[in-house]
Amino acid sequence: MKKGWIWASFCVSLSIFLTACGMELPEEMDVSGHGHGTSHPGGTTSCADLKEPTTTAPVKKFHLTAKAETLKLENGKTLDAWTYNGTTPGPEIRVQQGDRVVVTLENENIQAGVTIHWHGVILPCSQDGVPGITQDAVKPGEAFTYQFIAKQAGSFWYHSHQQSSIQARKGLIGRLIVETKKKDWDYDKDYAVTLHNLDGHPLIDQKKDLYLKAEPGEKVRLRIVNARNTTQKLAVAGIPYQVISIDGNDIHGPSPVKNQLIPVGAGQRYDILFQIPENGQVKLVTLDGEEQNTSTTITLGDGREVGKITDLDRQPEFDFTRYGTPTHDGVSLPSKFDRVYTLTLDWSWPDQFTINDKVMHHNQPLMVKKGDWVKLRLVNEGGGTHPMHLHGHVFQVLTKNGKPLKSSIYMDTLPVDVNETYEIAFRADNPGLWMLHCHNLIHARLGMGMMLNYEGITTPYRVGTKPGNVPD
Ligand code: C2O
Ligand code: CU
Repeated sequence: MKKGWIWASFCVSLSIFLTACGMELPEEMDVSGHGHGTSHPGGTTSCADLKEPTTTAPVKKFHLTAKAETLKLENGKTLDAWTYNGTTPGPEIRVQQGDRVVVTLENENIQAGVTIHWHGVILPCSQDGVPGITQDAVKPGEAFTYQFIAKQAGSFWYHSHQQSSIQARKGLIGRLIVETKKKDWDYDKDYAVTLHNLDGHPLIDQKKDLYLKAEPGEKVRLRIVNARNTTQKLAVAGIPYQVISIDGNDIHGPSPVKNQLIPVGAGQRYDILFQIPENGQVKLVTLDGEEQNTSTTITLGDGREVGKITDLDRQPEFDFTRYGTPTHDGVSLPSKFDRVYTLTLDWSWPDQFTINDKVMHHNQPLMVKKGDWVKLRLVNEGGGTHPMHLHGHVFQVLTKNGKPLKSSIYMDTLPVDVNETYEIAFRADNPGLWMLHCHNLIHARLGMGMMLNYEGITTPYRVGTKPGNVPD
């Protein structure tokens, strides 16, 4: 496994310059599977025409400029990064549930072109930010305006989906926080942080050790976004906490837990709630699931020193499959699914990451039609952890290794470890062309992705070297 990883990293650094290492990006391809002029019973609709209808929702406008920037790290090192508005993560976009979010993306000087994908947000196909599928990459001097209604409250993030393994790592990432109008949980402070790997430097919001101010006795909601490629296990030293939300989906009846590592998968968000103890502060340490010695820390408090924390990595892991209490207010699942697909995730020497033995551009799309109930079985047979992410939908996790979950847990990204099998389910209620891929973006680059397409949806855009649209 390790060997595959090293080779894969080598290939990705190399791939900036070369089309080597088993990548087979076609010159030009239509991912809708329709081709020009194919007729479809019931007619066809272009993804480009699927937009947010005009409403009276309050409008919140933002402007993001993608540009190269020299950043100075705390240790004095300077780094050539790619940023939205000069920082990485880019500006935090905070809106209220129900707002119409209008974001103009301008590309100042990123030669390969950029986009913005709104990770975890259910929005119309044309706003999903996937080059060659939902739009053309935005070239230097060009602009693109995204518009969607923030229907879901919670913690989300955004990143470029053009050559995402390279561009996210170079810094084209940011947070999107959607607040509820009335506070949904009881807390005094609301902080959000992004764990990221900036060109080989493991950081939290551009720092190795992040400090956030909080007073003893205060309740804190901490939103953790994992923008790295591997699971980050988070240790919370010594105090109890509740996991109140995963991927922007609230958990029902979150009991307090203590001394458990929170495994935040690549691409995922965990919101936790805790109280600053009377004697000072709270420390959190991130431990990388695959790379050693890349930990970062978050300290919340009034500046007083805390004692040394030890043995954090010997804690058991928090288990979402056994957490929360069952709800009866959710959507009830059907007894029979309209579509059931099994996706076997694997790796083959030297550098291919596959779904059902095929790489991205050789896999047939999973077809669904509007209204279908879909069940996917995700089986990991090798190649490390595969955090599987579905665009445009939120799914419910039904079973892990055959065992039903204790409560209703919803996600948009699910880390599947080697030898694990999960069943997930969702309603196909958002017509479009949606990527389903591993959010270890290196794996995605090396093949681990495919499309989930609705019948009758077409795209005027093309993936490939010729149009310059490279979605993975
Ligand atoms: Cu966060 Cu397809 O990506
Ligand atoms: Cu993977």
